[in-house]
Amino acid sequence: MSVEPAVMASRSAVAQPVRQGGVRINDVVKIYGAKDTGLLAVDHCTFEVPPGEITVCVGPSGCGKTTLLNAIAGFHSITSGSIYLDDEMLCGPGKLKAQPGPDRIVVFQNGALFPWKTNIENVTFGPIMQGVMPRAEADDKARAMMADAGLRGIEHNYPGEISSGVRRRVEIVRALMNNPKILLLDEPYRALDSLTKSVMHEALLEIFYKNRVSIFFITHDLEEAIFLGHKVVIMTTRPCRPKKILDIDIPHPRDYSVLTTKRFREFMEETVAAVHEEAIKAFAAGEKER
Ligand SMILES: Nc1ncnc2c1ncn2[C@@H]1O[C@H](COP(=O)(O)OP(=O)(O)O)[C@@H](O)[C@H]1O
Ligand SMILES: [Mg+2]
Repeated sequence: MSVEPAVMASRSAVAQPVRQGGVRINDVVKIYGAKDTGLLAVDHCTFEVPPGEITVCVGPSGCGKTTLLNAIAGFHSITSGSIYLDDEMLCGPGKLKAQPGPDRIVVFQNGALFPWKTNIENVTFGPIMQGVMPRAEADDKARAMMADAGLRGIEHNYPGEISSGVRRRVEIVRALMNNPKILLLDEPYRALDSLTKSVMHEALLEIFYKNRVSIFFITHDLEEAIFLGHKVVIMTTRPCRPKKILDIDIPHPRDYSVLTTKRFREFMEETVAAVHEEAIKAFAAGEKER
């Protein structure tokens, strides 16, 4: 069994920028429970996830990041405001909960591969179950996408037989099989050690350069945010709203050498105080992540 680093894949296959998969979050408020006595998680939050770009939302534990992602995915309602996917209102006045759909796929923090299915069976599961692709076509597409993501050789292994870093890559390929407009990633690398994380970041960028799907990525790791993001949205502690929005003008394609550049350090310096300040507030308030 061998896993090729995705970073070895050719950069010549960079896809053209796409014009779909943009999300607009307009003045969103989310209160869990009753309006007057419930818990205010998101407070008049407005920002955009531009199409074909990676937007990273960074903020302390319990500030409301997952709440926002769940509202985009359609897992729960908002209290007021609206969320658009391109020109379509996902939720807003008169329809406070978005309908979940294959155009927005969530890759969860703890992973969700079926352990009793092989990796390729996991990747082809969605399109085969939904009847949108015959098995042979799904197998071909999965094999090609897995090879592109540096996953050749593990198709017929089980998720339990590969490392957690490689599992994360399989999960992303599985999500992309459904041709989503946007991927919603909720701290996917949280449990990984920092070296594996750095490999995963380059692998994710490599997959992104080939597919140009819009990505909304949540983390509380500022370095991860600046390395991956076209845009970084720094959230306040709960109730969350953007404290600072940065356009990260470090050119793509990026690899880990950007971490030692002056520009990268400038972004870290510009943001670390803001993130730290919010983290202290969250700590003092005893916020816990769910
Ligand atoms: N289903 C829920 N019911 C009640 N409170 C919730 C629910 N989900 C999250 N919360 C609360 O909302 C706040 C924001 O949570 P969350 O969005 O998970 O934060 P983050 O992802 O930034 O860590 C937290 O105080 C959390 O305890
Ligand atoms: Mg969370």
